[in-house]
Amino acid sequence: MLWNSRLFPTLGLVLLTGTAAAEVDLSQYVNVFIGSEGPDGTGYGGGDIFVGGARPFGVAKVGIDSTAVNWTTAILNGGWTPDGNVTGISMMHESGTGGAPKYGLIAQMPLTSVDSPVNILDNQTYSQPRVGNDTASVGYYKTQLQNGITVELSASRHAGIMNYSFPEGEKHVLVDVSHYLPGSPGDSGSQFYVGGEIQIEDDGKSYTGYGTYVGGWNNGAPFTVYFYGEFSEAPDEAQTFSGVNTDPIPRYQNLANGGISQPTYGNKTNKAVSGPMTNRIGALFSWDSGSASQVISRVGISSISIDRARSYIEKEIPSWSLDDTVADAVNEWNEDVFNKIQVPLDDSANVTNIRLLYSSLYFIHLMPSDRSGENPLWNSGEPFWDDFYTMWDIFRCTVSFYHIFQPEYYESMIRALIDIWRHQGYMPDGRSGNWNGLVQGGSDADNVLADAYVKGLRGAINWTDGYAAMVKNAEVTPYNTFDYTDYTASTKEGRGALDDWKELGYVSEDHNTRCISRTVEYSLNDFAVSQVAKGEQPGDVDKYLSRSAGWQNIWDPSVKSLNFTGFLAPKLSDGSFNNTDYDPRICFGCEWSSYTYEGVPWEYSFVIPHDVETLIKLMGGSDSFDSRLDMMFEPDMAIQNLGSNGAGITTLMNIGNEPDFATPYLYNYINKQHKSVAQTRSLANQYFHDANYGIPGNSDAGAMNSWLLWQMLGIYPIVTQPVYLLSSPWFPDLNMTINGNKTLRISATGSDDGYYVQSVKINGKQWAKNWFEHDDIMKNGGTIEFELGNNATVWESGDVPPSPGHVELS
Ligand SMILES: *[C@@H]1O[C@H](CO)[C@@H](O)[C@H](O)[C@H]1NC(C)=O
Ligand SMILES: *[C@@H]1O[C@H](CO)[C@@H](O)[C@H](O)[C@H]1NC(C)=O
Ligand SMILES: *[C@@H]1O[C@H](CO)[C@@H](O)[C@H](O)[C@H]1NC(C)=O
Ligand SMILES: *[C@@H]1O[C@H](CO)[C@@H](O)[C@H](O)[C@H]1NC(C)=O
Ligand SMILES: *[C@@H]1O[C@H](CO)[C@@H](O)[C@H](O)[C@H]1NC(C)=O
Ligand SMILES: *[C@@H]1O[C@H](CO)[C@@H](O)[C@H](O)[C@H]1NC(C)=O
Ligand SMILES: *[C@@H]1O[C@H](CO)[C@@H](O)[C@H](O)[C@H]1NC(C)=O
Ligand SMILES: *[C@@H]1O[C@H](CO)[C@@H](O)[C@H](O)[C@H]1NC(C)=O
Ligand SMILES: *[C@@H]1O[C@H](CO)[C@@H](O)[C@H](O)[C@H]1NC(C)=O
Ligand SMILES: *[C@@H]1O[C@H](CO)[C@@H](O)[C@H](O)[C@H]1NC(C)=O
Ligand SMILES: *[C@@H]1O[C@H](CO)[C@@H](O)[C@H](O)[C@H]1NC(C)=O
Ligand SMILES: *[C@@H]1O[C@H](CO)[C@@H](O)[C@H](O)[C@H]1NC(C)=O
Repeated sequence: MLWNSRLFPTLGLVLLTGTAAAEVDLSQYVNVFIGSEGPDGTGYGGGDIFVGGARPFGVAKVGIDSTAVNWTTAILNGGWTPDGNVTGISMMHESGTGGAPKYGLIAQMPLTSVDSPVNILDNQTYSQPRVGNDTASVGYYKTQLQNGITVELSASRHAGIMNYSFPEGEKHVLVDVSHYLPGSPGDSGSQFYVGGEIQIEDDGKSYTGYGTYVGGWNNGAPFTVYFYGEFSEAPDEAQTFSGVNTDPIPRYQNLANGGISQPTYGNKTNKAVSGPMTNRIGALFSWDSGSASQVISRVGISSISIDRARSYIEKEIPSWSLDDTVADAVNEWNEDVFNKIQVPLDDSANVTNIRLLYSSLYFIHLMPSDRSGENPLWNSGEPFWDDFYTMWDIFRCTVSFYHIFQPEYYESMIRALIDIWRHQGYMPDGRSGNWNGLVQGGSDADNVLADAYVKGLRGAINWTDGYAAMVKNAEVTPYNTFDYTDYTASTKEGRGALDDWKELGYVSEDHNTRCISRTVEYSLNDFAVSQVAKGEQPGDVDKYLSRSAGWQNIWDPSVKSLNFTGFLAPKLSDGSFNNTDYDPRICFGCEWSSYTYEGVPWEYSFVIPHDVETLIKLMGGSDSFDSRLDMMFEPDMAIQNLGSNGAGITTLMNIGNEPDFATPYLYNYINKQHKSVAQTRSLANQYFHDANYGIPGNSDAGAMNSWLLWQMLGIYPIVTQPVYLLSSPWFPDLNMTINGNKTLRISATGSDDGYYVQSVKINGKQWAKNWFEHDDIMKNGGTIEFELGNNATVWESGDVPPSPGHVELS
């Protein structure tokens, strides 16, 4: 769909403290459709992003839900699809996730007829194709339905506002409490509705209630969303309805006995209740036929109560004018996010790059959701966050961006992670709908906590507890949840293969699934534990540091592939390698039951950020490491089909998936920084665009977009270490507000000649190393001055980046 800019002249001058005055509405540079499509113009292979009204880390993400044109390739995860018909406008969405969709909850659907053949319990009878292209910008979305209704919407942090412009004739708004985004038929991960209530209030123009939902990719337990909705105009008729619930209930018989049922209508004074058979329920609001007119609706949501849902409308959307909420949203995004980065906007500026910059910032702020004050499970006064979807994606470089860019939010997120451990036993790896799950590899919240800790984040974080939460992951095997995804161990939280890890020092192939990738991840997790132990429990440091070398236990020096020798390999619990038919370019689906998850062993063999020194040694030294890295970028070397995760990539290097994020930067570890620059630039230019197909696969809650952000800044963080590698910046000058109110300035001369680094100064001093430490510039601010040019030169002469987890196993 075409992006259309919508300017808000009323915003004019926004003055800020602590940073330069921003006279420009930077939100105009955001293309909210980046990642909305895959290569063929459908959602398949795209970013699975949410398109609609949202605030930075807000709870409400208001947008359309749509049907699947073809279930084989359907991507309903963000609600919006390029080609599906609209089934509703709902209040909650994820952004960038894969697997069975979650949310698409608390919906309305404007209709011009409810007469037969329309059955309001059957979306196929009323879903609407869209006419023309949708329009969307930060905080605003507009679409036109085939039935002539134009929908415009915006969102606050916990509420939404919808403008329905009806043509002449009948006007209805259907409120379907049993609406949700379904998985494809037969998908055991699909969500389903388990009950709710709805009541029309005495004024006739507002309604209240709740709905309860289960499942989705994270296999979550039931959770409840309370709502309060109201219309600008009193309807002429308002009725509740209920009907037999014939929706599929994954893994169980459903309650259908034949096709979709017809509704039974109540009246204004009826409360519709799901009752013992989890009936579907809703309400229908109708306005007299007549000339074209507008009906506006505001809906608030809460996990606590109807009163609270209502209060959000009063606090957050006090006006009935959509433009007020849109302006407020734009203001919040600018102040909270966009104004914190300033680049030249003059005529010589590359507008494409500016749009990529601000759009990437936008997408890293759609998730997780700040549910502080909205915790229905316990009362601790601590912040509460949801939709970590997942740590596996965002630990690699997204959270490091939050650390410098959004220190307050980030501290709040970490307190919430620890509070989840306090009250529910484990920190989450994935979490959504107030429920931990799923764990794809290690317990990656450990990496997040360690990254914050080593960079000095303290604030109100209770690190005694933070460390205890990490030790829990490292020591206590979670009970088996017998998840259909993998029956061998818990996929909900913690480390399912901890039994092997503690006893053998690696994850064995015969006891556990994902033996290679989990060994790799547990190694980094234990390195993370050791780094926090340094400050919190020094007696534990050696233990976890030596456990962090576990990956070396599954390094088989005899495995050969593409003329390279020595790879991670599947090892049995008796200590022998099982190299029957083993090929490190194959993972057998890269699924839960494979050797490696979403990546082949070739890729995972590079994912040892804490001890690159040993990795280089095992790979045969610097030269061999260099050419093995080169091989990662050779076309047509990949033989494993990664499906929609593959983005048509034929190299072993897959920038479309998170495990490889740091790999193209590893040349810095052999002081060949120019090769890191060449490889990362080339990946960025090839796979990231200011276009609907603008990212290589799922955005993964913004993880993909954060990779690009660091690339544009010209630095890359090494997670769990206070270390950043230098690459090559995209802007001649960039000021970024960091650590609350400090300024990081990154400037570059010579970019007209080329993007290779010729020399670097940090805080005015000539810099010989191709890396720096957090305290050098990220705490109090500072400057990095790059001299760029076309000479791909070895400009660095200092020490290579550190390997603080260096352990030589005897
Ligand atoms: C449409 O409605 C049917 C029947 O309630 C439901 O099973 C299905 O999931 C809905 N489809 C979409 C795309 O919402
Ligand atoms: C969308 O609606 C149109 C018109 O009702 C119908 O022909 C088409 O099959 C629907 N498509 C989908 C994907 O639901
Ligand atoms: C759905 O998509 C799959 C995969 O692209 C294709 O094989 C199939 O023919 C499509 N089905 C229809 C009905 O178009
Ligand atoms: C919608 O967008 C497409 C591609 O961006 C463009 O080709 C088409 O002309 C647009 N349609 C309308 C009605 O604007
Ligand atoms: C609404 O329905 C209830 C229960 O069926 C009935 O008792 C009541 O009289 C109805 N009220 C109106 C205003 O029709
Ligand atoms: C960055 O800040 C410096 C110092 O305040 C200023 O001179 C420069 O113009 C700023 N650059 C941009 C792009 O705003
Ligand atoms: C802007 O930068 C992009 C790389 O992101 C490049 O492809 C493009 O040619 C540049 N545009 C101009 C006008 O220089
Ligand atoms: C951290 O929490 C523990 C209990 O959970 C408490 O005993 C301790 O006093 C807290 N530490 C700080 C510094 O608040
Ligand atoms: C050894 O690997 C082969 C090939 O992947 C597999 O079929 C076999 O089950 C493995 N053996 C054990 C004991 O896991
Ligand atoms: C491996 O080495 C052989 C012999 O030198 C050579 O023919 C072959 O092309 C090499 N393979 C790759 C993938 O480089
Ligand atoms: C800068 O931020 C720190 C920490 O948030 C705060 O203590 C300090 O008062 C701020 N200084 C200014 C001048 O705003
Ligand atoms: C590139 O840099 C190297 C090392 O600084 C230098 O020896 C070489 O002459 C330079 N080449 C060019 C074309 O400037």
